[in-house]
Amino acid sequence: MTDLPVQKRLYIKTYGCQMNVYDSERMTDILRPLGYGVTDSPDDADLVVLNTCHIREKATEKVYSELGVLRRMKEAKAGAGGQMTIAVAGCVAQAEGSEIMRRQTAVDFVLGPQSYHRLPEMIARAHRASGEALAADFAADEKFDALPKSRQPGGVTAFLTVQEGCDKFCTFCVVPYTRGAEYSRPVEAVLAEAADLAAQGVREVTLLGQNVNAYGAERNEGGLAGLVERLAAIPGLDRIRYTTSHPRDMDEALIAAHGTQEALMPYLHLPVQSGSDKILKAMNRDHRAEDYVALIGRIRQARPDIALSGDFIVGFPGETEADFEATLDLVRQVGYASAFTFKYSRRPGTPAANMGAQVDEAVKDERLARLNGLLEEQRRAFNAEMVGRVVPVLIEREGRHPGQILGRSPYLQAVHAEGPANLIGQIVHMRIESAAHMSLSGVLVSAAQEAVL
Ligand code: SAH
Ligand code: SF4
Ligand code: F3S
Repeated sequence: MTDLPVQKRLYIKTYGCQMNVYDSERMTDILRPLGYGVTDSPDDADLVVLNTCHIREKATEKVYSELGVLRRMKEAKAGAGGQMTIAVAGCVAQAEGSEIMRRQTAVDFVLGPQSYHRLPEMIARAHRASGEALAADFAADEKFDALPKSRQPGGVTAFLTVQEGCDKFCTFCVVPYTRGAEYSRPVEAVLAEAADLAAQGVREVTLLGQNVNAYGAERNEGGLAGLVERLAAIPGLDRIRYTTSHPRDMDEALIAAHGTQEALMPYLHLPVQSGSDKILKAMNRDHRAEDYVALIGRIRQARPDIALSGDFIVGFPGETEADFEATLDLVRQVGYASAFTFKYSRRPGTPAANMGAQVDEAVKDERLARLNGLLEEQRRAFNAEMVGRVVPVLIEREGRHPGQILGRSPYLQAVHAEGPANLIGQIVHMRIESAAHMSLSGVLVSAAQEAVL
């Protein structure tokens, strides 16, 4: 099908995790052939899509306040004889679809994460102002089959969803309810998408899944390790990452792959949430703190320089000072290169929301600050160790200052240097000169020839 010329403007605002970033790109892909071009301001948009996140209360609240602003824009536009269609997609749409329609009448339709292939149909229905305005199916295979086969990557790195949904039911988490059961895309479909991206100049893919390391569990096709091996064989695809993983699904083949697959980058996001066995049990995480530490030991044996990252929740119901200290102990034992920390947020409908001994907000704040202090120290130490070393950097784009280029180290650190823009898309050697708060500064040592890791 040839695309219609750009006649309409689409504004997509993305909240939440990388999977939403991927989904927003795919929604743009679906709408492009219908004549929708992307705009970065909502007031001149014909179609506004909010791709929402339900993970914490604050994330959900943001959506309702944004809708208030959009309603006023829509009314102003209608007053001037124009029109604006407003759609809510993503995890809030899945969890609170009918409530959104009730609370905010400016919303034309709502569609959940497994229904994006129905976007054109929903737009047509909205324009006829008739029929169903809520699409919240749960069949992930239908969605992937119906999405356009080719993508338009925005640069030299890309996200690629390989698995969706979650069967783990951690007691604090909404994801199993918003994304449905675990589903892995077939290997061939993933390989085709990756080859298409590589042919368009993408050199690094990050494989996405709510439990990405459970990939293929239901298919017996070699799991994530097998997929990585096949992806690494695609010409041009030199770097592979994956996120997010559950400690329970970190199998021996995948651990071994970190030692043998050159394309698999030495960075692993492996959330543990807490270092207290009592809290881990109440969270239904299905492992103890010492299992996690032992697992990290095995991963480091396979790949000694691996950079570790994690997610932590402070103030889960029943968390005492001693439980929190156990989290600090675990962090000291593991040593993280980066981390994401959260105050426990009570989510209606999840088991933890009804647990006794909810922790005081002030106590959560205090624990969060202590945990962040420790993790920040570790991050600084990890970055400082890089100074003086020569690392291969994939150049992604021009920097903020003229003559500056920006890329990433194998450990996912942002690295900037003076250099020509024609290096974008190349992996070059850089000597790290200094480590600042959020990035490293380097100098090119091999502009001409491609670096090998
Ligand atoms: N599937 C991934 C992460 C999903 S959500 C995994 O299992 O690791 C990302 C992070 O948000 C979680 O790891 C957790 O740390 C945090 N999170 C989820 N629900 C939360 C809640 N109710 N309150 C605070 N943080 C939460
Ligand atoms: Fe949520 Fe747990 Fe599933 Fe991660 S594994 S998405 S934290 S339920
Ligand atoms: Fe948020 Fe849904 Fe991702 S709840 S974190 S957008 S899976």
